Amino acid sequence: MSDRRFPRRLVLSVLLSTALFCALAPLHAEDGSQAWLRYAPPVLNGIPASYEPMPAALVNLDSSVIAASAQNEMLRGIRSMLSRTLRLEAKIPDNDDAWVLGTSAELHAAFPEYRAPSLAAEGFSISTLAAHGHQYWLIAGADPRGILYGTFHVLAGIAQGQAFAQLAGIESPAAPIRWVNQWDNLNGTIERGYGGRSIFFDNGQVRSDLSRAADYARLLASVGINGCTINNVNADPRLLEPAMIREVARIADVFRPWGVRLSMAVAINSPQVIGGLDTYDPGDPKVAAWWRARVDDIYAAIPDFAGFVVKADSEGQPGPSQYGRTPVDAANMLAAALKPHGGIVLYRAFVYNHHLDWNDPRADRARAAYDIFHPLDGQFASSVIIQIKNGPIDFQVREPVSPLFAGLKKTNTAVELEITQEYMGQARHLVFLPTQWKTYLDFDLRAGNRSTPLKDIVDGTSFHRPLGGYIGVANVGLDTNWMFNPLSMANLYGFARLAWNPNTTPDTIAADWTRLTFSNDPKVVTTLSRMLLASWHIYEDYTGPLGLQTLTNITGPHYGPAPQSQENNGWGQWIRADHDGVGMDRTVATGTGFIGQYPPEVAAMYASLKTCPDNLLLFMHHVPYTYKLHTGKTVIQTIYDDHYLGANEAAGQVKQWQSLDGLIDEQRYEETLGLLEYGAGHAIVWRDAIDRWFKQISGIPDDHHRIDHDPNRITALQMQLDGYTPVDVTPWETASGGKAYVCQVAQSARAECTASAHLNRPAGWYSVAVQYFDYRRGDSTFRLLLNGQPIAAWTADNTLPGEAPNGDTSTRYTLRGVPLRPGDTITVEGHPDDGEPAPIDYIEIVPEPAGAAHAPNPR
Ligand code: GCU
Repeated sequence: MSDRRFPRRLVLSVLLSTALFCALAPLHAEDGSQAWLRYAPPVLNGIPASYEPMPAALVNLDSSVIAASAQNEMLRGIRSMLSRTLRLEAKIPDNDDAWVLGTSAELHAAFPEYRAPSLAAEGFSISTLAAHGHQYWLIAGADPRGILYGTFHVLAGIAQGQAFAQLAGIESPAAPIRWVNQWDNLNGTIERGYGGRSIFFDNGQVRSDLSRAADYARLLASVGINGCTINNVNADPRLLEPAMIREVARIADVFRPWGVRLSMAVAINSPQVIGGLDTYDPGDPKVAAWWRARVDDIYAAIPDFAGFVVKADSEGQPGPSQYGRTPVDAANMLAAALKPHGGIVLYRAFVYNHHLDWNDPRADRARAAYDIFHPLDGQFASSVIIQIKNGPIDFQVREPVSPLFAGLKKTNTAVELEITQEYMGQARHLVFLPTQWKTYLDFDLRAGNRSTPLKDIVDGTSFHRPLGGYIGVANVGLDTNWMFNPLSMANLYGFARLAWNPNTTPDTIAADWTRLTFSNDPKVVTTLSRMLLASWHIYEDYTGPLGLQTLTNITGPHYGPAPQSQENNGWGQWIRADHDGVGMDRTVATGTGFIGQYPPEVAAMYASLKTCPDNLLLFMHHVPYTYKLHTGKTVIQTIYDDHYLGANEAAGQVKQWQSLDGLIDEQRYEETLGLLEYGAGHAIVWRDAIDRWFKQISGIPDDHHRIDHDPNRITALQMQLDGYTPVDVTPWETASGGKAYVCQVAQSARAECTASAHLNRPAGWYSVAVQYFDYRRGDSTFRLLLNGQPIAAWTADNTLPGEAPNGDTSTRYTLRGVPLRPGDTITVEGHPDDGEPAPIDYIEIVPEPAGAAHAPNPR
């Protein structure tokens, strides 16, 4: 279906129903569902921003469905922000000022004096024009998408209190491919999704109610995203069944008004699994014919279908190697089927052997993508793009930029970034990723000894490629606020801003997002921006500094600390820590040779210990723990210190957020506070686990004797226990002494267990923290008692990814402002529930500074 055929009458009725909806619905329900499209009345320094004189009329010269969305959005946004209802006029009024939307060509036809700027595809120009004694505020698009993007740009500017004149200018996207991938499964779950169930699928079908999918497309369009892959890269072949394609077409229908083209991830063995063929060999003509027929069917149902994303020969997925074929054979076969319809193939370079030999010192997963794809450079069809993860491993807290970007000079490439926080705290920790992504995008690979930053490679500039761009794995879900954590949406927003213009600074992204999402109040903008901008480094400090990677449980949920899980298996996320040293030797001289995959200047920089940056040292080199960094501090002391620093800073983030109490709407304030409190507690779990593990493996003590020497901590072992019994914790370093204490009520036939400590603290105010384990199942309840008086009660009802006491489930409850006197008894009372045995680890009693304002307790 063409964008341009959209009957006027329908435009009007859509508009009327939108207007009616706006009039009835609460416009600014602050539950996060509107994300950065809240359209709150812009208030600057306490004064509502004024847009007088603003034209009262709105003319839309373009008849496409996409321009109809722009027109509706204009009405909706102006009405919501400025309490003005624009008059919709069918043609340019001679007797009135007007907003005018249209393509440059349409505007030129309407106003011969209009000098149409030359715009790149999907770009827009914002300007004013004086003609026939009137003022026209023009939003000109290169095409309908440009009109829509220009409209959202203007509305975002108004929301931030900018005058129309400030918004004037020309903008074009850096790259043609600006897509999100969703890893949704047909059963409604989402791989590595933390914001609830799929907005597309349920129970093997496309959802009947696709209103969230439509809302999502609107959100994506508002920041210039033009494509969405709707299903898991570990693709289910059933998606290509004819009945399913008809269903999927309904999703494309709700995307279309927003200029978001639908794409699908496909399994390369589909011809065999659902097509009844005895092979899926890409070299077999009947396989190619099967794909052509499927693609023809798809285009019959979805005329603007964008193309396929392919994960093959990776992590157990079928691939062309089965038949001795290469990625070129598979990708070009699919491209041949799609190209006649204008579709493309995104073939993922995330191909590696996950059965590597740990005992082979030259084995290295980081080498895989380059080793496999570099020899194929120049052989891929022009409509194939190689989709490359930013780093050579897998979305770790820090990795070097993948050398493959410099190794494909005759091939289209796109960078795959992970918006969903898989290795980044799974939306329970604050990690603002644009800071990290910007580091990667600006990284200069020096291909051919000239400037070739990653951003210039993927937008096609460096190697003169026609196609390329940005893919973000988003994984939003049905949660009202899309991603579970109100602050995580900054990552979706930031991804889109960088995909549109990679020269946008993280500061700008953080400030704009804060204004649009929360408030223009300068204190909110300054405080939240500071929190966002610091968060990646904080997370890196308490998880895996010095290029160690995230150090999480890589064979489990990728969430809590479990450093040993990196080692001694086929997955190749090794850090090769032993008694004497740590790090992967990836040099050419003595190691795996990975560094040799970079262009010479970068390879030389990483190869030398003198020039290798500290923050990637252990990714590139194996060094003794006593090796001194550029800072002059040893590796081991830096690991210890960074973890303490990171955990302290995470606690500081809570205080910074609390300084915004009263300036943020209550629901989002409370939700965010709860998550930051949780994150600060989990940062301590990370700190203790990683520092303990390194202390044990290295045998080197912390200079400051902090590890397992916290004078404020009383472990369950040191408490008087009634009913609680010890169990071993795996991994050992995620609980004090490697033990958790569980209340096995079935065995002891009792309703609760207690752990008590007799205290001899000087009289004063204290905070009392209880470290316990909260499994996904069961809602154990706890009480805290002071000399038998209940002073707090809470439920372990978090849905953390684990069913055992470990670093995934270890959780902290803190009660502040507890008045203790010498001789007091503090008791933790746990009531198990549904197989969750109210497990505990320790309590921590910290004096509160005299005269300090008490931070509020959990409400
Ligand atoms: C990671 C992730 C998987 C995903 C894979 C991919 O390994 O944990 O869930 O399938 O990346 O990107 O293909």
